[in-house]
Amino acid sequence: MTEHDKSSNVVWHHATVTRVRREQMNKHSGAVFWFTGLSGAGKSTLAHDVEEKLHRLDYRTFVLDGDNVRHGLCADLSFTDEDRKENIRRIGQMARLYVEAGIIVLTAFISPFKSDRDNVRKICGSDFHEIYCKCSLAVCESRDVKGLYQRARAGEISDFTGISSPYEEPDAPELEVDTESHLEECSERVFKYIAAAVAL
Ligand code: ADX
Repeated sequence: MTEHDKSSNVVWHHATVTRVRREQMNKHSGAVFWFTGLSGAGKSTLAHDVEEKLHRLDYRTFVLDGDNVRHGLCADLSFTDEDRKENIRRIGQMARLYVEAGIIVLTAFISPFKSDRDNVRKICGSDFHEIYCKCSLAVCESRDVKGLYQRARAGEISDFTGISSPYEEPDAPELEVDTESHLEECSERVFKYIAAAVAL
């Protein structure tokens, strides 16, 4: 039981169409590839680029993306530490369901806190692969694709990662890619890593 478990008298229903059967049909296993890094580090770009490569080869994939999920499932959450924790908890649980469905999930969330990422690792076990998109704050800020860094510097956005809220780098990610440059090389490396990890 956790602090979130308020449902009592519920019993897990076991599917007859199991994960193993789904994976055999897909010809690969399900797994979570968790891209973490600063806003503007290239997490979404990379995740979608790798997904394109996988999809063309008939892998079953889905990208869960911070900006998109915050339009719906997590639209009620802000960027305080507590709300980020809840954001990542929900995504972690959703990613786990996708894995049960035999899907390769690629997630693109800043997920700045180690403890939150480690909780997802606990939920997903060996199906969880952390991919650190390493890019300096200076480069992310110079890209400022959405103009958010400028607004955060001007004090118009609070709790902004890298400016007024911390980012805790992973200690031992399964994979680290330098997304400051050479995105195509990063994409190729991640693709190869995933293809090897999901091989049956
Ligand atoms: S997380 O910290 O909870 O993992 P998430 O990845 O869902 O963050 O959302 C990050 C995206 O929200 C950023 O790419 C950016 O476009 C937008 N955003 C809006 N406000 C903030 C903020 N205060 N800090 C970081 N990102 C923000």
